[in-house]
Amino acid sequence: MGLNIGIDVGGTKIAGATVDVDGQIHHRSRRETPAQDVDAMSATITDLVHDLLRAADADGRTVGAVGVAVAGFVDASGTTVLFAPNIAWRDAPLKRMLEETVGRPIILENDANAAAWGEFRFGPARDDDDMLLLTVGTGVGGGIVSDGELLRGHEGVAAEVGHLRVQPDGYRCGCGNKGCLEAYASGTALVREARELVRGGSPHAGALIDLCGGEPEQLTGEMVTQAAAGGDPAAVELLADLGTWLGEGIASLVAVLDPAVIVVGGGVADAGDLLVGPARAAFGRQLTGRGHRRQADIVLAELGNDAGMIGAADLASRRTAPADRAL
Ligand code: BGC
Ligand code: NA
Ligand code: ZN
Repeated sequence: MGLNIGIDVGGTKIAGATVDVDGQIHHRSRRETPAQDVDAMSATITDLVHDLLRAADADGRTVGAVGVAVAGFVDASGTTVLFAPNIAWRDAPLKRMLEETVGRPIILENDANAAAWGEFRFGPARDDDDMLLLTVGTGVGGGIVSDGELLRGHEGVAAEVGHLRVQPDGYRCGCGNKGCLEAYASGTALVREARELVRGGSPHAGALIDLCGGEPEQLTGEMVTQAAAGGDPAAVELLADLGTWLGEGIASLVAVLDPAVIVVGGGVADAGDLLVGPARAAFGRQLTGRGHRRQADIVLAELGNDAGMIGAADLASRRTAPADRAL
């Protein structure tokens, strides 16, 4: 049985895997995301693909296509990264660049779209036709499966849910606008709020101050999650604030989309119920028509941080299959 490669390019790391047709991962490899330079980025992705090709070869497995999921806006033809709020890509012809160096068919997809597809095919939404996925990491990503199809929109850039305006005149977002959901419900926002608390030196922030050795700049999102998991009230509250923004954003999105299920993934989702519990509560308070409609479940991504790679590999296999074999 042949494998396909899925690569997930994020703001801090690039993760890759070989994946079979059942969504199972066979080999993995990863790199740090290089400095904000388009050529260095494609060189690193190429390197990672070669690693995985060697691993598959050593196992006597063949590799068909490569799906690359990126944290940015991919155009409708799937050839160019138009823009990325948190990475230096601007009109980067990534498909062509990679095809020249990798020697395999390449497909590009937005990272959250790929994760949504992975969760839809192999995760908690496998029995539904309509799902909404949000990823909470450096940014807030979105993916929508509507009637069994990934929604890409006219320009290819649908489902950019992180840039829904939730606060007029609010915090500035990486996209340049003010008040985006991403500026309130991302891992970046979590760290900003936690550092502010530490800087204030409040007695309430004791555990967080200890964790970062009194240096707010050293504080990470993982530390906040760790403190919250250990029961620190300040950290629990910070995650609950994030979850509340998320739940309210989800209520607005559900008013438009009416999905069967909402899946939450991304690094911050490692906080589990500490994030999703408050999100469910806020969603329930804000859902329009509540009491007269079913309230869709908000569930954690089952494939975790692998969803983007698995989804990208599956999309690569489908989009490069000969027409008579296309599923
Ligand atoms: C970007 C999206 C991406 C998300 C998660 C957002 O800032 O606009 O394209 O999916 O971050 O990486
Ligand atoms: Na998306
Ligand atoms: Zn934005």
